Amino acid sequence: MEKYVINGGKPLYGEIDVSGAKNAAVAIIPAALMVNGVCRLENIPQISDADMLMTILEHLGAKIRMVNRNTVEIDCTDVRYTDAPYDLMRRIRASYYLIGAMLGRFGAAKTTMPGGCNFGVRPIDQHIKGMTALGADVEVTGGFVYAKALDGKLHGTRIYLDKVSVGATMNIILAASMARGRTVIENAAKEPHIVDLANFLNSMGAEIMGAGTDVIKIRGVERLHGAVYSVIPDQIEAGTFMIAAAATKGDVLVTNVIPKHLEPITSKMRKIGVNIEEFDDSVRVWVDGPLVRTNVKTMPHPGFPTDMQPQIAVTLALAEGTSIVTESIFENRFKYADELSRMGACIKVEGNSAIIDGVKKLTGARVSAPDLRAGAALVIAGLAADGITVVDDIVYIQRGYENFEEKLRSLGAEIEKVSSEKEIQKFRLRVG
Ligand code: UD1
Repeated sequence: MEKYVINGGKPLYGEIDVSGAKNAAVAIIPAALMVNGVCRLENIPQISDADMLMTILEHLGAKIRMVNRNTVEIDCTDVRYTDAPYDLMRRIRASYYLIGAMLGRFGAAKTTMPGGCNFGVRPIDQHIKGMTALGADVEVTGGFVYAKALDGKLHGTRIYLDKVSVGATMNIILAASMARGRTVIENAAKEPHIVDLANFLNSMGAEIMGAGTDVIKIRGVERLHGAVYSVIPDQIEAGTFMIAAAATKGDVLVTNVIPKHLEPITSKMRKIGVNIEEFDDSVRVWVDGPLVRTNVKTMPHPGFPTDMQPQIAVTLALAEGTSIVTESIFENRFKYADELSRMGACIKVEGNSAIIDGVKKLTGARVSAPDLRAGAALVIAGLAADGITVVDDIVYIQRGYENFEEKLRSLGAEIEKVSSEKEIQKFRLRVG
């Protein structure tokens, strides 16, 4: 079991390049399956969720060729309709995009119920509602999802999502791209990665309009063709480094970003007293005064992202005054609170809110990553804390951050990936 060991208390300084967006890549990779041909995907982050999806495509008959570290060619010419491998599928959330992609290409899909980070019940009823409305018969039984277009092909229709869902919006876009006729998705999610998926599909010949608004219109096409596409920068990875700079009171230039995508994060950080200067494709983040309290409520885009909630809570744990963080997307996303308390934070969870009384400093402790973003938040806490922090279960963090520890080290962080108690001891001795 790998862990991070961190000697904290040092401000981060320097420049850091952001990788491609995880949540865009995990939909775009399955979308490549819809083409009887080759897609060249650039700026694919090297993270385990992306690797897992490519392995699943290989099991389905795709040929995958890594052109370089972040560019991959996916040839789905020989993909045939077959069962996706259960054991791989159930490990990640984004495997649900294979339902839409396979239904679109083959008119049938058999996948597992998706896995992923556990922050409470994560139903897929809106995905199923969408596929059913498009004319598929969907059955969930024994941990599997079986879907079949009733007359061999999906039909465009009007779908109103009862809940704003990133996953359901993207899955319906995938399936509807190759349905007969026109589909309208109402109350659609508006995240930047939805626009990215639509842009990719459009570059393959799809006809999708309105992505990024809450009404998306899709005219189904008979077939899609191969394309070359570059994934957008990861707004959550960028936000994570911005918070790391702020919590350690450093000065960091975060590059390869789309500042517009960061606005919900930027505006909250400014309220806390963090300085942020925006450039064309980078943001400089620095702290030269006290951090102050604010309240945060997670909301669908363009609201404050739930995927940044644990990280901003770390900054608030070090800010003057009492802040309230309210989680309105997922029911159980405060599992890091106990861990943060062990580092000296004053944080109390009541229902879907965390009440945080800022403290002057955190102290290193042994903590465990409960999920991807909470894990990243605990690393930030460790970087800001005095002394040594050990973060266990970093397998979660590796699902979504490319070279996390290397990137942090390039900013001056003292962080190492270790896999034994002996190595932790060595690190302790070395840093004194
Ligand atoms: C996706 C992201 C995840 C991110 C989340 C919110 C992937 C693989 N995962 O997750 O990183 O944290 O968006 O930005 O890209 N819901 C339903 N029924 C459904 C679908 C969702 O009730 O059929 C609910 C969920 O329980 C949640 C809310 O809708 O309360 C939003 O979920 P959704 O946007 O779908 O998130 P995920 O696709 O699970």
